[in-house]
Amino acid sequence: MWNDLKQRANAARANSILELCQQDSRFEDFSIKHGDLLFDYSKTHLKAADLDMLVDMVKDVPTRRNAMFSGEKINQTEGRAVLHTALRNLDGGPVKVGGNDVMPEITATLKRMQQFADDVRSGIFQGQGGAITDVVNIGIGGSDLGPAMATLALAPYHNGPRTHFISNVDGADATDKLALLKPETTLVIVASKTFTTIETMTNATTVRKWMETVVRDPAEQFVAVSTAAEKTAAFGIPSERVFGFEDWVGGRYSMWGPIGLSLMLAVGPDAFEEFLRGAQDMDVHFQTADLAKNMPIMLALIGLWHHQGMTFPTRAVLPYDQRLSRLPAYLQQLEMESNGKSVAMDGSAVETVTGPVVWGEPGTNGQHAFYQLIHQGRTVVPCEFIVAAQGHEDHLTEHHTLLLANCLAQSEALMAGRSMDVARGLMAAKGFEGAELERQAAHRVFEGNKPSTTLIYPKLTPFVLGQLIALYEHRVFVEGVILGINSYDQWGVELGKELAVSLTPVVEGNQSADNKDSSTRGLIEYVHSLRG
Ligand code: F6P
Repeated sequence: MWNDLKQRANAARANSILELCQQDSRFEDFSIKHGDLLFDYSKTHLKAADLDMLVDMVKDVPTRRNAMFSGEKINQTEGRAVLHTALRNLDGGPVKVGGNDVMPEITATLKRMQQFADDVRSGIFQGQGGAITDVVNIGIGGSDLGPAMATLALAPYHNGPRTHFISNVDGADATDKLALLKPETTLVIVASKTFTTIETMTNATTVRKWMETVVRDPAEQFVAVSTAAEKTAAFGIPSERVFGFEDWVGGRYSMWGPIGLSLMLAVGPDAFEEFLRGAQDMDVHFQTADLAKNMPIMLALIGLWHHQGMTFPTRAVLPYDQRLSRLPAYLQQLEMESNGKSVAMDGSAVETVTGPVVWGEPGTNGQHAFYQLIHQGRTVVPCEFIVAAQGHEDHLTEHHTLLLANCLAQSEALMAGRSMDVARGLMAAKGFEGAELERQAAHRVFEGNKPSTTLIYPKLTPFVLGQLIALYEHRVFVEGVILGINSYDQWGVELGKELAVSLTPVVEGNQSADNKDSSTRGLIEYVHSLRG
């Protein structure tokens, strides 16, 4: 399958995207609309026959998809179901894991979160110094990136306490964030699925000490979000402020439940529910739309076409939406932690490269940084543009018009490029002649024929954000199924964690570095010489 894909994709490099897009029906045939959300993949090398072949690759997906939604243990290396979709199953029926319906507990936890959020936001729940003005979420990875990304994305809906996120074990993170806050009106959420993650537990202890300097009983202003009730109790957080979830919610898929508490406190339970409804809407689309008109499936297939087929090593996520500036970081975890694997579910080696490197920055800022390489460098970077038809700033519509024009201009420029003849004409008009004209013109040539896709939505509302994130989650699932890997474990993060534990006493100077290799030993000795 992978060789066929590569051969076909390689042959497609000769297709002119511009010529394909000069056919009137191209946009209609190579885009998908679901509600108000549009996914356009017309600016790619794909032809209709390639699409047929791609859609053939997903024939196993519906069975696996149904297995996931119905609570089967598809995370086979950890023996777990994968049911983040149950967290947004607001209108759906029962979802069973091992014969037990998990929906009553999910609904009860959501109600507790809503009640708590209402109490905090209305001032019923107070800190020692009165109403809560600030919320600090301490977590990392999936216990940070989702709520941090979404809280920023939904800033126009923010009508609760200010929210802050401490994630890095670097003391600079806690220091700089805490400097803005008063302990007596701050609520701290310790968010950790396992409640053992060293960064989170170190930050939680530091923040508790900071609070202790002013607040008589800091535990009264602490909340825990975790699957490990006994560990949250050992940390001293009373059970009425512990919001639990089950191990069938993966860390990077967990923002829909209690890990989203900081978001709910910021935007309120109603907006949070809209966010869940958007995701639920995408779940239904994913389960019911025809394969060739199914947005997550086609987004996944375009990803495979570019990475496994055309062998482009990375993909850039380019939101023309400043409030989605943390989306690339969020997607790095979602995609790279899920699909950056080398071993198939059955333990054999995967026959192809797996997840691509995902990176990006919001436009238009990126245009003034790395787009030079995208337009004229030798590495082809498939670009995934994301943009709203309207901003929230009704008084600044001219900004949004410019933003949209820039986004559309970039995909057009990548496709159309600029030929040597046109470049010559431009240089001749500037008065250049002869060899100097040739030299100057060569620098102004754009090869073009570079693929991109565009996602357009009306406005970045909570509902739309829910749709978008669920779309990416299902894309990762589909890519994982086709690759034959388990997208829901993350063994690759363990080795570094283990070595960090064994290196801590060596860095402290309490243990010798003699058993380390020369490079690591040299670095440690140099660090020691600098620390004195
Ligand atoms: O570093 C890997 C990881 O396990 C992620 O998968 C997870 O999102 C993150 O660490 C945080 O884990 P926890 O929520 O258990 O603190």
